Amino acid sequence: MINVPVAVATSLDDAEMISVAGRTNGWRSREMQQRPDWAPEGVDLEKPSAARCYDFYLGGAYNFEVDRELGRKVMEVVPNVQEIAINNRAFLRRAVRYCLDQGVRQFLDIGSGIPTVGNVHEIAQAADPESRVVYVDNEPVAVAHSRAILGDTERATIVQADLLDVEGVLDAPETRRMLDFSRPIAVMMVALVHFVADSSNPREVIRRYYERLPAGSYLGFSHVTGDHYMEGVQGLVKLYEDSINPVTLRTREEVAELIGDFEIVEPGVVYVPDWRPDTEEDVWEQPERSIVYGAVGRKV
Ligand SMILES: C[S@@+](CC[C@H](N)C(=O)[O-])C[C@H]1O[C@@H](n2cnc3c(N)ncnc32)[C@H](O)[C@@H]1O
Repeated sequence: MINVPVAVATSLDDAEMISVAGRTNGWRSREMQQRPDWAPEGVDLEKPSAARCYDFYLGGAYNFEVDRELGRKVMEVVPNVQEIAINNRAFLRRAVRYCLDQGVRQFLDIGSGIPTVGNVHEIAQAADPESRVVYVDNEPVAVAHSRAILGDTERATIVQADLLDVEGVLDAPETRRMLDFSRPIAVMMVALVHFVADSSNPREVIRRYYERLPAGSYLGFSHVTGDHYMEGVQGLVKLYEDSINPVTLRTREEVAELIGDFEIVEPGVVYVPDWRPDTEEDVWEQPERSIVYGAVGRKV
């Protein structure tokens, strides 16, 4: 079980680590299960979430001890998980820039996560300050922190909604206010759909987004796979089982099938380091070590 409500120090090192983690994360008391100042009310402090674990991998401070506990265990089975997360963010950046190069100025970033370096509105508005961005997440910490970061930024907003609730995302008042559905929109589903089980029919969900988008729109997509390194990746799946976001692995063919309504642009569905790398750090000698497939598709 990963449900660890209270961190118990078993050594001096542990104690120091826990106390430092507590201080740097703004805990109000030594009780690890107490809600820190920055966490919204009602958030489940006892179950790890994908958003907060990912924040932990990226060195962020918006995670709880349960998330760090899970994250540390994941590091044992997938030792390069932090590098994988950084690399996935680099893919997101390149996919957004690609869409900007195609003339798209509207972005719908679903499963946007806890804001970190290189958020979509920063990339898009650096290229064109007129770019408009709607973030969507169903995790309360991600939503609260996005709201705080965005403040009264005019051309970016956050909607708390579930990917599976297509109308709830596309017809939310903030989405309708921010995006013009008569012009192309780039939808980002980056490191998101592996949190959707087959029983929720992600193929159909993605089709419903596709149908609502105007021609010339894009989909930026990435997804965890066990095609290589199945053993370690299975370990990760097992660890996430008791979190808020269990993981479903998919093969390259299954990923291509999921986004099959879109016309996939070159180089196709590939390990993310191979998707149009533009710096030396983007290039990996063994791209399969990224365990994440990436692709960009266009609605023709
Ligand atoms: C691994 S993070 C990825 C963040 C960002 N897209 C990136 O790639 O850097 C996955 C995010 O998807 C969100 N998420 C998972 N399932 C979701 C759902 N059904 N609807 C909306 N968001 C979801 C999680 O809360 C988390 O913030």
